Amino acid sequence: MRDPGYYGGIVQSIETPDRRGRTANIALGFDNLADYLTKNSPYFGCITGRYANRIAKGRFTLDGTTYQLAVNNGENHLHGGDVGFDKRVWQAREIREHGAVGLRLTYVSPAGEEKYPGTLSVTVTYRLTVRNEIRIDYHATTDAPTIVNLTNHTYFNLAGEGSGSIYDHRLRLNASRYTPVDPTLIPTGSLDPVAGTPMDFRRPTAIGARIRDNFQQLLLGQGYDHNFVLDRRDDTSLALAARVSEPTSGRTVTIRTAEPGIQFYSGNFLDGTLVGTGGHIYRQGDGFALETQHFPDSPNQPSFPSTVLRPDGVYQTTTVYEFGTTSAG
Ligand code: GLA
Repeated sequence: MRDPGYYGGIVQSIETPDRRGRTANIALGFDNLADYLTKNSPYFGCITGRYANRIAKGRFTLDGTTYQLAVNNGENHLHGGDVGFDKRVWQAREIREHGAVGLRLTYVSPAGEEKYPGTLSVTVTYRLTVRNEIRIDYHATTDAPTIVNLTNHTYFNLAGEGSGSIYDHRLRLNASRYTPVDPTLIPTGSLDPVAGTPMDFRRPTAIGARIRDNFQQLLLGQGYDHNFVLDRRDDTSLALAARVSEPTSGRTVTIRTAEPGIQFYSGNFLDGTLVGTGGHIYRQGDGFALETQHFPDSPNQPSFPSTVLRPDGVYQTTTVYEFGTTSAG
């Protein structure tokens, strides 16, 4: 049978047990394809690309040529443009391996799509492992110099989607620095210490504990919407990025990645206009996203790790989400 294709690489639901064994769907989303197509999904569960997060004014220069991408977020380019990878149909093949089942998704993005240079051949592999992990491997090659930055944009609520706000969730981020932003949420270029600010999640802290602090960066993001610079020993291995636990259910998620950064987004733009999978309305702060990535606007920030991919190179990265429970509150 011909593979009918897989829209946006979207993870529609993730069911995990709480500490007493009761299962809930902890991923925000819709219960039908039509809503993803028509309801202006805020990137629920999808693969974002070619460039996850923002590029200032949609413009960058590579090898002396300036490219103008779509401007779809105020004056900036966001998550790949008007029709990013979240809105493309991917080819899907089932994987069955010892210790894992999954899907291998492929998509060939033609040169010039969304005005990006180079034909980008992308494979994203989702695996559900016997260790209660979702493992995502990203792989891409190009036939001409280009830029690439891929992530998955799942929103979580560990108490169950549609159950209310995530402000009681305890977050730990393995990051001593973050990239402060300007009023359009483009990094200023500096890497600021989190110490002494509401951005410090080096010890587990409730997401809502300081979200109403009078701190300029929280005003700009209308909450947390920032890239954190991960503390890592080397550039390539999987390193701890984040751990979140929810006190009532005891559910946890631990995120490890090969990427240098993670965008922590506290669901600030959810505004009560969408009805989720379980029939409840999503309001501000009803889910959080932790998007492993290269830093936003890297093509315009020479001091940030490079997102350039050339024909002789391979883009390869991995992120693992491990689900569990804790007895502690
Ligand atoms: C990312 C961005 C946010 C927002 C969400 C999707 O997290 O940084 O500003 O665009 O995606 O709504």
